[in-house]
Amino acid sequence: MEKLAIDGGAPLNGEVAISGAKNAALPILCAGLLTAEALHIGNVPHLRDVTTMLSLLGQMGMSISVNEKLGVELRAANIHHPEAPYEMVKTMRASVLVLGPLAARFGEARVSLPGGCAIGLRPVDQHLKGLQAMGATITMDHGYMIVRAPRLKGVRICMDLVTVTGTENLMMAATLAEGETVIENAAREPEITDLAACLTAMGANIQGAGSDKITIQGVAKLHGAHHRVMPDRIETGTFLVAAAVTRGNVRVTGARPTTLDAVLDKLREAGVKIESGDDWISIAPNGKLQSVNLRTAPYPAFPTDMQAQFVALNSVADGTGVVNETIFENRFMHVQELRRLGADIEVEGNTAIVKGVPHLDGATVMATDLRASASLVIAGLVARGTTIVDRIYHLDRGYEAIEEKLSRLGARIRRVS
Ligand code: EPU
Repeated sequence: MEKLAIDGGAPLNGEVAISGAKNAALPILCAGLLTAEALHIGNVPHLRDVTTMLSLLGQMGMSISVNEKLGVELRAANIHHPEAPYEMVKTMRASVLVLGPLAARFGEARVSLPGGCAIGLRPVDQHLKGLQAMGATITMDHGYMIVRAPRLKGVRICMDLVTVTGTENLMMAATLAEGETVIENAAREPEITDLAACLTAMGANIQGAGSDKITIQGVAKLHGAHHRVMPDRIETGTFLVAAAVTRGNVRVTGARPTTLDAVLDKLREAGVKIESGDDWISIAPNGKLQSVNLRTAPYPAFPTDMQAQFVALNSVADGTGVVNETIFENRFMHVQELRRLGADIEVEGNTAIVKGVPHLDGATVMATDLRASASLVIAGLVARGTTIVDRIYHLDRGYEAIEEKLSRLGARIRRVS
């Protein structure tokens, strides 16, 4: 199994280019199921989750071609197998994003029910509730959700809670439904807006994406289109935190600063200097690093996907930071591992109390999920001596060439088997 070996203590300096957003690319790839014509998607990140999604779509009968410029062309003219098997769904929960498009275009889908995962129970009841309201019948069969629908009908759906992939599934389903669908209490994440832009280019009629009320007028057919995936705001934030803890001067390029307001505010509060333009952000030290208190919540509040990285930051900052996780019930798996590096962290329920220590010491640590892995890499970059991060396949799911990008910034990091 591959690991990362990091010799801590080198400040990051220089420029790093941000890749396309994983959590925008995954639903956009599924949107390819909504038309028989070619969907050309640019700026697709080279990630394991993307490869998994392409192989899932390929198994269904999608024809796929990938060019060297991170472009993917999809054509769903011959979908013969509208199914997401357990083997795929268990490795990548985002596989459930095929549910809405399959139900809308083919009137049937067979998708494995995802189990719990490393960060929480993560049910899909809201996805199903919405599809049922649109006229689909859903039955359970040996761990599979079987969806059957004549033409879906537009309805008013009020989500019980804010769910990102739930909103995406229903928005995709509604594009081909008969009449108007209104999704109330919709997620407002920038990835929803990016998906809506792609669907609109395909001929969908969507208003309000990015707000908590999305209105979709169904159309009979969607057509082919070109779309470029937005920059990854979580990758951007992760590089900024890595720069902050190593006291480096870094400029991230190809980013979208307006999607990171809550993260940039917390970084400024932590005592670093942030400047930004249309598509770049620069970070520089500005006195001592200070602990910050934060609370995760749906966009535009502080993202749960940046929580673990900030726990690593607080571990080496001055003072005590209180970190409250409100999205997932089990997202503090990185804490035990950070403690092995010498971090002083107590967890009480959904709150981590992080007391900054003068230094961390390298050790072998185990990655448990994607963002937990990122926080361990960040800690390794400042720890004294060598940190080995084991099970980095989690990292490869969501960060493109992370050790190459960090090396170019001056980190002493290498992949070992
Ligand atoms: N929830 C339900 N019922 C549902 C759907 C969600 O109870 O039907 C609960 C979840 O259990 C969770 C909360 O609602 O407690 C929010 O979950 P959400 O559905 O928004 O999460 P998701 O759509 O499964 C996406 C991202 C995650 C990110 C979350 C929150 C993708 C592919 N995944 O997941 O990304 O953490 O939104 O912002 O977009 C990651 O990239 O590392 C990652 C985990």
